[in-house]
Amino acid sequence: MEPEFVQGMSRVAEGEVHLTTAKRVAGWLRPAWVEVSLAAVEANAAYVAGLVAPARVCAIVKADGYGHGAVLVAEAALAGGATYLGVALAEEGHELRTAGIDAPVLVLSEPPPEAMRLVIEDGLIPTLYTEEGTHALLEAAARLNPEAPVPVHLKVDTGMHRVGATPGAAVELARAIAGEPRLRLDGLFTHLAVADAPADPFTAHQLDVFEATRSALARQGILPSLLHAANSAGALWHPRSRYDMVRPGIALYGLGPAPSVQDPLLGGLRPALSLKAEVTLAKEVAAGEGLSYGLRYRLTEPSTVATVPVGYADGVPRRLAGTGGEVLIGGRRYPIAGSVTMDQLMVDCGPGANVKAGDEVVLIGRQGDQEITAWDWAERLGTIAYEVTCALSPRLPRIYT
Ligand SMILES: Cc1ncc(COP(=O)(O)O)c(C=O)c1O
Repeated sequence: MEPEFVQGMSRVAEGEVHLTTAKRVAGWLRPAWVEVSLAAVEANAAYVAGLVAPARVCAIVKADGYGHGAVLVAEAALAGGATYLGVALAEEGHELRTAGIDAPVLVLSEPPPEAMRLVIEDGLIPTLYTEEGTHALLEAAARLNPEAPVPVHLKVDTGMHRVGATPGAAVELARAIAGEPRLRLDGLFTHLAVADAPADPFTAHQLDVFEATRSALARQGILPSLLHAANSAGALWHPRSRYDMVRPGIALYGLGPAPSVQDPLLGGLRPALSLKAEVTLAKEVAAGEGLSYGLRYRLTEPSTVATVPVGYADGVPRRLAGTGGEVLIGGRRYPIAGSVTMDQLMVDCGPGANVKAGDEVVLIGRQGDQEITAWDWAERLGTIAYEVTCALSPRLPRIYT
């Protein structure tokens, strides 16, 4: 085993590393793990912060930090210069608070009425965009009677049509919020639908609508102090969208928002996550034999076949094999051979390969001068790198380096 791995495991064993599910414990004995470089996250946050200054950075750590581990990633991003955190669920905000993180935490969509109590108790900043949500928050505030008004951000739908109030409704809601002494309207924001396609004029249209909404609020004497619109793509490629704060997620993890855009700005990002394992079994298999379920992968020559203890239950999609997926062993690329099974996959190392049990396997990450990225998987699978890292199951222990 590599020293880093041993060190990572002992850190975990000492309880210094945050774990969200007991399932991760089960993963420790198996030589398969996700390695996360917190130094890379910190450097990526610092890079984005430098690029967008004086706008602040709200580090998006929802979905367990895109699979990287929300708490440690949040701490690394704050160390790199982020001053706000963004989550999807109040429960995710609660996880950060439980870990002792006291930075402002924005819940990016309106929490359901049942979550408003948690929002207030944990001092989270809810997003609002409906009358019902606003009433639910007010009721919870009346019951809990917090010392200070509850800070809120109002979300306006400028064209993506997922969540947010229409521009007209947003102005009405802003007036209602401004009239409530128990609430304080700190932010106005929107979300961009096509910022990852830098030439698409729809982003400028969304920003026009957003700015018109801000002006309409200003005419009512309502001036939220934080205006924000930019995800990673906005922060990188649409300087106009930076306003007072940007909300990068994928860039913090060192991945570009789109594989098709080649931009020197992406050179400042370093992928934080690797998926690694060790070969558990290697054996010679004769030409003509089939591998894995269905025996569809046929060896055309005698080969060393290596078994790797990760499968689709860990977030390695079954289809990865059929789409040309590869792994790195000994600094060389080898094809995943036959269907990925639930807990294991096989690799065709070819004739006379010097591959043996215990060898390190890199499924995502670098080995020698070779690299396989989450975007490489995504492009094979017809998806995006976000889905690849989010899908890495909690069964894989996270080792922090
Ligand atoms: C509202 C909101 N802001 C920011 C982000 C971060 O996006 P990205 O990871 O593309 O930077 C997301 C992610 O989906 C989001 O939903």
